[in-house]
Amino acid sequence: MMLAFFNYPFYSNGFIPHGHCYLWKTGLVWLHILSDSLMALAYFSIAIALVYFVRKREDLPFKSILLLFGAFIIFCGTTHIMEIWTLWYPTYWLSGFIKALTALISVYTAFTLVPIIPQALALPSPAQLEVANSQLKLTLKELAETQTQLIQTEKMSSLGKLVAGIAHEINNPVSFIYGNIGIANEYTENLLKLISLYQECYPKTLSKIQILAETIELDFIKKDLPKIFSSIKIGSERICEIVLSLRSFSRVDEAEIKRVDLHEGINSTLLILGNQLKGQGKYLDIEIIKEYGELPQVDCYPGQLNQVFMNLLTNAIDTLRESIVGCRVPKSNIISAENQQPTNNNPQIRIVTEVLDSHQVMIRVIDNGCGMTEEVRQKIFDPFFTTKPVGSGTGLGMSISYQIVDKHGGQFKCITQPLQGTEFQIRIPIRSKLY
Ligand SMILES: Nc1ncnc2c1ncn2[C@@H]1O[C@H](COP(=O)(O)OP(=O)(O)O)[C@@H](O)[C@H]1O
Ligand SMILES: [Mg+2]
Repeated sequence: MMLAFFNYPFYSNGFIPHGHCYLWKTGLVWLHILSDSLMALAYFSIAIALVYFVRKREDLPFKSILLLFGAFIIFCGTTHIMEIWTLWYPTYWLSGFIKALTALISVYTAFTLVPIIPQALALPSPAQLEVANSQLKLTLKELAETQTQLIQTEKMSSLGKLVAGIAHEINNPVSFIYGNIGIANEYTENLLKLISLYQECYPKTLSKIQILAETIELDFIKKDLPKIFSSIKIGSERICEIVLSLRSFSRVDEAEIKRVDLHEGINSTLLILGNQLKGQGKYLDIEIIKEYGELPQVDCYPGQLNQVFMNLLTNAIDTLRESIVGCRVPKSNIISAENQQPTNNNPQIRIVTEVLDSHQVMIRVIDNGCGMTEEVRQKIFDPFFTTKPVGSGTGLGMSISYQIVDKHGGQFKCITQPLQGTEFQIRIPIRSKLY
């Protein structure tokens, strides 16, 4: 049975043109049939795979040559089919014709391939593409950072102009009020004294005067007027302070650039703040830990840098005072109720200075106060952003400080976590380009 199957090619129709070539050996004929069939099968599937691949990958370079490969592989496959076919059917013209076509298309493909090779070689390898890709990613990140910085700078500069205008406009009328309030107070005190004297010398006055004095509540006015003046004075002083902040925010008062010892500036700022570092009532003393390194003299606008130290230190004092009585709990920490907040028994400000490298120094102001949420941290450099109660914060300190450090070619960084304290890092170039 098996033998009959294997012998079938020979005897089914009695014609085997290759019979002679194959020495009339059944095994040899089968070897050729099977090999040709497998080759044809493989060729056709390779061609199908190629065409499928080309169709799926729209972006593929050298698509036409790949399709040519496909075509020539199909023709090669067909010649092998013809090999099997001509075992029984002597259509040698047909098989010759197909071979000729195969040859034609192969030669054409070979010729087309030659000029493409240098182009294909020039194509970047996946490894090169990977490198280029990661470089692009890096550039993109840098661009995004630069853009953020540009936006910040632009925001600051346009706001600076606006603020300078406002500060200038407010400054004049406020100086009228502030300048005259002392005099007005003095005149009023004198007038009140005069009235008192009149009352003393003429206790029995005309009833008309008596009636008016009662109607206008003269006794109350005498007591209240000095209070009114002192609150007007406090108010106008506060406006003056704000105007001053606004002016330096907008860089109106540009002093000379100097080569100074930054420690002196920090120390003098601490001296001014001395009073606030002392504990009063429920507040404990705030401990100042100075960890000063060997700093060279630094080129800067000393007054402005002092203002930065002042802003950083007053903020640290504010947060430490809050931490002494118990920090307000950030929203994300709802579990711990406000009254369960641990109180800070050891309020500290650490001031660390060091030389970073041959051209910059770093000043770090670290407090163990309430810290900030990420949401707050992102806004601290925005002008007028404050989390403090109305009247106690202007929200200008940090934005002014940012502006000043930026102008010195330095960098400002804030590292903080809710209830974990805050560290401000300032890097300042030792030699300035501002000269
Ligand atoms: N050391 C700090 N610890 C906690 N929060 C701080 C600290 N420094 C600044 N902040 C936050 O940044 C905000 C803005 O500060 P600032 O610009 O100085 O304005 P102000 O002090 O008037 O509120 C503060 O209201 C506070 O929420
Ligand atoms: Mg402040």
